[in-house]
Amino acid sequence: MNFENLIYEVDDQLAIITINRPKKLNALNKETIQELHDAFAEADSDPNIGVIILTGSGEKAFVAGADISEFSDFEEEQGALLARKGQKLLFDFIENLSTPVVAAINGFALGGGLELAMAAHIRIASDNARMGLPETSLGLIPGYGGTQRLPQLVGKGRAFEMIMTASMINADQALQYGLVNHVTMQEELMSHAEKLAAKILDNSGVAIATAITAVNAGFKAGVNGYDVEIEGFGASFGTEDFKEGTSAFLEKRKAEFPGK
Ligand code: COA
Repeated sequence: MNFENLIYEVDDQLAIITINRPKKLNALNKETIQELHDAFAEADSDPNIGVIILTGSGEKAFVAGADISEFSDFEEEQGALLARKGQKLLFDFIENLSTPVVAAINGFALGGGLELAMAAHIRIASDNARMGLPETSLGLIPGYGGTQRLPQLVGKGRAFEMIMTASMINADQALQYGLVNHVTMQEELMSHAEKLAAKILDNSGVAIATAITAVNAGFKAGVNGYDVEIEGFGASFGTEDFKEGTSAFLEKRKAEFPGK
């Protein structure tokens, strides 16, 4: 696929999506949000792809936020529409994708950039990364899920501090907070993400998709996550991956999951 603001690469079972507006520190304008949706949809619908890595181009930024120049003259309704459309098209879409998404945070992840990383299933940061939700310094609140996903990941008190002070935390602090799973040197970020992807690719993609649904269910209002888990657990027994996984274990060989 050809994109204006993204680089989309496929390496065997891995898709790598790189946001490519380095002069604007990869800020998310409307076109980039639509292209990201299209790229994630493409990767998710490709039965050969088992993991997606999302990163930013250049050495300075993952994503420095939503593109401020696009909404500086907005009024209330336009603001609500921007958030609603963006959440549906990209942030909720990524979180609920069947294919696991790893965010490789290679620099600034601010505002919509941190919200994008938080919508991914797993986050790894380079040691120069800086993360924050600076919206209150612009007279706004986070609008792409930040008020919900940040407390889920780091706890309410730390989330309130980050939102109220609008200040950035460094990679080590993000690791201590549990906002990222690993920190690496910048030059090793992609190889680290690829090693993690390879470990995921050893396992059943069908079971992983079911696990994503069950984990996410626990964070949805009015949904009983335990019930969703029971249903998904039961459904797993009807898959070819289950038959292959258990046979391989009993036959003391590595499983070759058919992905069905
Ligand atoms: N929206 C639009 N443009 C942005 C942007 C954003 N969120 N973040 C950076 N840019 C642009 C800058 O305007 C600048 O463009 P220009 O060269 O045409 O003037 C370019 O990217 C480089 O940014 P600059 O500010 O010169 O880099 P810096 O190293 O001095 O500072 C940051 C880096 C990340 C601290 C700073 O760019 C920043 O604070 N960005 C906004 C972060 C933010 O508030 N995000 C939340 C939005 S809701």
